[in-house]
Amino acid sequence: MLILEASAETMATCRAWKRGGARVGFVPTMGYLHEGHISLVRIAKESCDKVVASIFVNPTQFGPNEDFARYPRDLKRDAAMCEAAGVDLLFVPPVEEIYPVGSATFVNVEGPITSTLCGASRPGHFRGVATVVAKLFGIVGPDVAVFGQKDAQQLLVIRRMTRDLFFPVEIVAGPIVRESDGLAMSSRNAYLGPDERAQATVLWRSLQEAARMFEGGERRAAKIVAKAREIIACSPLARPDYVELVDNETLLPVQGNIDGTALLALAVFFGKTRLIDNAVLQGKESQ
Ligand code: PAJ
Repeated sequence: MLILEASAETMATCRAWKRGGARVGFVPTMGYLHEGHISLVRIAKESCDKVVASIFVNPTQFGPNEDFARYPRDLKRDAAMCEAAGVDLLFVPPVEEIYPVGSATFVNVEGPITSTLCGASRPGHFRGVATVVAKLFGIVGPDVAVFGQKDAQQLLVIRRMTRDLFFPVEIVAGPIVRESDGLAMSSRNAYLGPDERAQATVLWRSLQEAARMFEGGERRAAKIVAKAREIIACSPLARPDYVELVDNETLLPVQGNIDGTALLALAVFFGKTRLIDNAVLQGKESQ
């Protein structure tokens, strides 16, 4: 496995692969890898000849009071995991490679897909995400890029940007990978204290219960959201940021009854740690 820090060298390597006829897959990450990230590498490997992963803790997607400085990092372990999973090139740029002095271009995806949910509580976050992903697409030039459904809103933002900017890349979604007790894997789970970690399972339980109600025929959005909130409230340490039922494509709140497919999305603080999770509620009628 190649490990490169320079954009120019990464670009040259990927271009050479493509000239040789290889299909290039790409998995961007912020590192501190877990099985969720590795599952995306496996998906990329299914349809690609070469797989590039990146590790870059992107400063522009963190707010001033967020965890950029203390975001967990372990490059040695991450590289070993990537190598074992069959990554061909691991791109680990320093900040100056992605944001050299004088860089002045940012990508702003507008509308409800960036102003609602995480966009409402993290202003500027999706501008940072879209910008860095556009830059990484420019460097790697992938045929396929794989993103996790765990960050459902991010996935929609990337899809929108890719369409709007005519990037010739296919965006593929990977399912949420969970711990054995249901907690969605996340690099940020490392921040949780033992009590917080134990209580964080309310997130998965609330989503499961909501899915059960939906499968049982309940279509009233308010009822489902109330049940999810009730289960989260069983944890004294949980402080919900949002628990919302939204349209799966527009992210606008579902008013009244769910018609077709909806996304139950939540963000909940445990202490200073903000965890997100979601479930797609898909009716048989829209399958
Ligand atoms: P990061 O949080 O490291 O996640 C990298 C990718 O892994 C994202 O596509 C995310 O959705 C996916 N992922 C995380 N946890 C997952 C899980 N439990 N199951 C499946 N997939 C999971 O998301 C980012 O980094 C950044 O915003 C990035 C896109 C790299 C831009 O900086």
